[in-house]
Amino acid sequence: LFLLLLFPCCLTQTTASNTTSATPTSSPQPRTDRLKVRLTGFPRKHNEGRVELFHKGEWGTICDDDFSIVNAHVLCRQLGFVEATGWTHSAKYGKGSGKIWLDNVLCSGSEKSIEQCKSRGWGNSDCTHDEDAGVVCKDERIPGFVDSNVIDAHVDENKIEEVRLQPVVVAAKKKLPITEGVVEVKYKDGWAQVCDLGWTIKNTRVLCGMLGFPHERKVNKNFYKLFLERQKSYFHVHSVACTGTEVHLAACPLEFSKPNSTSTCVGGSPAVISCMPGPLFMQNSTLLFQKRFKSNYHELLMLKGGARLGEGRVEVLKDSEWGTVCDDRWNLPSASVVCRELGFGSAKEAFTGARMGQGMGPIYMNEVKCVGHEKSIWSCPFRNITSEDCQHMEDAAVRCNIPYMGLENKIRITGGRTQNEGRVEVLSADPNGTLSWGLICGEGWSTKEAMVACRQLGLGYANQGLQETWYWDSSNVTDMVMSGVKCTGSELSLSQCQHHKTISCQKAAAKFSAGVICSETVSDLVLNASLVQQTVYIEDRPLHMLYCAAEEDCLSKSAAKANWPYGHRRLLRFSSQIHNIGRADFKPKAGRHSWVWHACHAHYHSMDIFTHYDLLNANGTKVAEGHKASFCLEDTDCHEGVSKRYECANFGDQGITVGCWDLYRHDIDCQWIDITDVKPGNYIMQVVINPNQEVAESDFTNNAMKCNCKYDGHRIWLHNCHIGDAFSEEAERRFEKYPGQLNNKIS
Ligand SMILES: *[C@@H]1O[C@H](CO)[C@@H](O)[C@H](O)[C@H]1NC(C)=O
Ligand SMILES: *[C@@H]1O[C@H](CO)[C@@H](O)[C@H](O)[C@H]1NC(C)=O
Ligand SMILES: *[C@@H]1O[C@H](CO)[C@@H](O)[C@H](O)[C@H]1NC(C)=O
Ligand SMILES: *[C@@H]1O[C@H](CO)[C@@H](O)[C@H](O)[C@H]1NC(C)=O
Ligand SMILES: *[C@@H]1O[C@H](CO)[C@@H](O)[C@H](O)[C@H]1NC(C)=O
Ligand SMILES: *[C@@H]1O[C@H](CO)[C@@H](O)[C@H](O)[C@H]1NC(C)=O
Ligand SMILES: *[C@@H]1O[C@H](CO)[C@@H](O)[C@H](O)[C@H]1NC(C)=O
Ligand SMILES: *[C@@H]1O[C@H](CO)[C@@H](O)[C@H](O)[C@H]1NC(C)=O
Repeated sequence: LFLLLLFPCCLTQTTASNTTSATPTSSPQPRTDRLKVRLTGFPRKHNEGRVELFHKGEWGTICDDDFSIVNAHVLCRQLGFVEATGWTHSAKYGKGSGKIWLDNVLCSGSEKSIEQCKSRGWGNSDCTHDEDAGVVCKDERIPGFVDSNVIDAHVDENKIEEVRLQPVVVAAKKKLPITEGVVEVKYKDGWAQVCDLGWTIKNTRVLCGMLGFPHERKVNKNFYKLFLERQKSYFHVHSVACTGTEVHLAACPLEFSKPNSTSTCVGGSPAVISCMPGPLFMQNSTLLFQKRFKSNYHELLMLKGGARLGEGRVEVLKDSEWGTVCDDRWNLPSASVVCRELGFGSAKEAFTGARMGQGMGPIYMNEVKCVGHEKSIWSCPFRNITSEDCQHMEDAAVRCNIPYMGLENKIRITGGRTQNEGRVEVLSADPNGTLSWGLICGEGWSTKEAMVACRQLGLGYANQGLQETWYWDSSNVTDMVMSGVKCTGSELSLSQCQHHKTISCQKAAAKFSAGVICSETVSDLVLNASLVQQTVYIEDRPLHMLYCAAEEDCLSKSAAKANWPYGHRRLLRFSSQIHNIGRADFKPKAGRHSWVWHACHAHYHSMDIFTHYDLLNANGTKVAEGHKASFCLEDTDCHEGVSKRYECANFGDQGITVGCWDLYRHDIDCQWIDITDVKPGNYIMQVVINPNQEVAESDFTNNAMKCNCKYDGHRIWLHNCHIGDAFSEEAERRFEKYPGQLNNKIS
């Protein structure tokens, strides 16, 4: 069966913060017990609309009696916005239906959820739907707000909930994804077929988009004729007349007949369609993986920072550099052009306000207005950006419809404390074809492999990959069926990763099997490249000022042979500003009990290796490295509206909050590369944050920062400083050649 849940219908809230401060949430509470809130009605935007609450399995509204801006603040924060700018009465966004859940709501402002405010109680109201309340939220997201789903489509999703294809050939049912078959739509009473009288390929395009496919193709109707004649039809929908740009069938003109009536489709038959999958989902796509095909990626377009395949911040390539799209007028038709260009279906959601994190590079486009049939986002009308127009806070993002691959059924986790963690079990077949569950050997299992497992499970990112799972209950599965698993990190399932042909596991007991802790949100650290470029200089530092640094191993080996305390070391110094642009706080992996006290600098180090500073020559060999042993992580400063949480001093909590940065000024001890032994020449300077990928991040491609570096024996210049994923591949290759070019001029 092809089941695809469309429009996960609601907004879920997080633990909202204090009245005025928009503190991000680092440890989201379990989603289950949170009240769901959504904005609906018309005309509605992502940040305004009629308020509806999901209670006792039913959506209902709030009456406007006694409503106030204070209530609106609580609701907007619950929806992930920093505050409300207004509220509306008298069903401004149209009348709701069903229950009026709350009336005479009186919030004090500090409540985390509207249900904590005073009111007459659930369902106790003397209002009619003419009095439904609405809110207008400030279009600015709470940094790090746990993801939620905004329905941005002006469609009545109650009309048609899901679509699926029923293949007629038994063998075709086993091959996923299903790309061809009889269309079935789910409406409130069940599944029904669609009459194909007047059917056009444009209808097919809309359905293929919903099913996760970028393109439609013609179907050989004769092949189905015999089969369909022998079957009893069960029509409910007819006269479908899409223009082809709709993102959902319910947005097309169509009519409903009485369920299972045949009289409305005389001379017609059930609609059959065929779709063309994107490259990632072709049955021969393993080939593409061997060529290191990157998911969420296309030549001039990629999605960054999403937890799942087919979602993320939209980044486009221009003049060899990646940049973002501003969210003004960002909507589903434009998002669908992006999705189809990447080989997915139409867009399920169009996100504004940097919901998938903020980019760091240029912002290229604003007010993108696609019709929906464009082949590329660059073909859509848009406005160029001026620096006042937009900030990265407004980066646009998408969530695309992707085909159902059934990958999540081939893996499961057991024994954990929550549904998001446990031992990894995979389904495998013995030589007789009998399927059974088995464990994965923990040796060599790291965050990268855990990332793939969590992605396959549909649980988002991996917070951790565990090599030992002895502290979790054992299920009756004890056999190791996989070992030596090595993933690149971008695979869709563990079966696409390398692994041993025959099992080889030194510690075969179940407690040494691989485990994961998955998470919707993780951090993402990025270095401010332009600051490095601006602050670089050389210092000849006397040895008598370097005792502490020597003790912390911040000098190169030859320093040991120097004539202490006479002489000096030549240091390449610069400032590092490390931003957390992800959606969860960055915290050291080690608990504070294992932090190491450094007496010389008088602070605790929470991570042994947090960054690498290196100078590389033409063949990539290190000619000098920084030996900064570790860092004391803290929030030096934050974006407006975000409060600092981590402070290194006095054995304080260490970490970097979402929306904050940790600054290591050029003049602090060990913030350098010792280049005393380096000859003049052209080099590449490289800084890598979290180099061992010890702490989970949503994106490791942006952890390296590189610069071209020219050293003439007296002075030093850095240019072209950029983070790892900022350039096109071709521009990156040109950049890497720099040390090989002799005597080149400084630009
Ligand atoms: C909320 O803010 C008030 C004043 O702005 C402060 O006194 C109180 O401690 C804060 N509460 C929390 C939980 O941060
Ligand atoms: C219509 O017919 C199909 C197949 O016979 C059946 O599964 C479905 O329940 C029927 N729907 C209604 C509303 O009677
Ligand atoms: C995969 O198969 C499709 C047709 O099914 C073909 O068009 C495409 O070129 C193939 N891709 C590769 C990489 O072989
Ligand atoms: C944006 O600016 C570039 C040059 O900077 C120009 O070529 C292009 O036509 C402009 N596009 C729009 C939509 O104004
Ligand atoms: C496979 O089937 C054969 C014969 O049916 C049986 O003898 C053998 O034990 C089976 N092997 C496994 C691994 O189940
Ligand atoms: C393992 O346990 C599950 C339920 O916990 C049970 O359904 C299954 O039959 C058991 N399998 C074996 C091989 O004992
Ligand atoms: C990076 O550093 C430059 C130079 O100091 C500064 O202008 C810029 O605002 C910084 N970028 C961010 C994202 O903070
Ligand atoms: C790289 O270059 C250095 C000198 O620039 C040389 O000593 C070294 O052997 C080279 N290494 C390789 C692997 O070519």
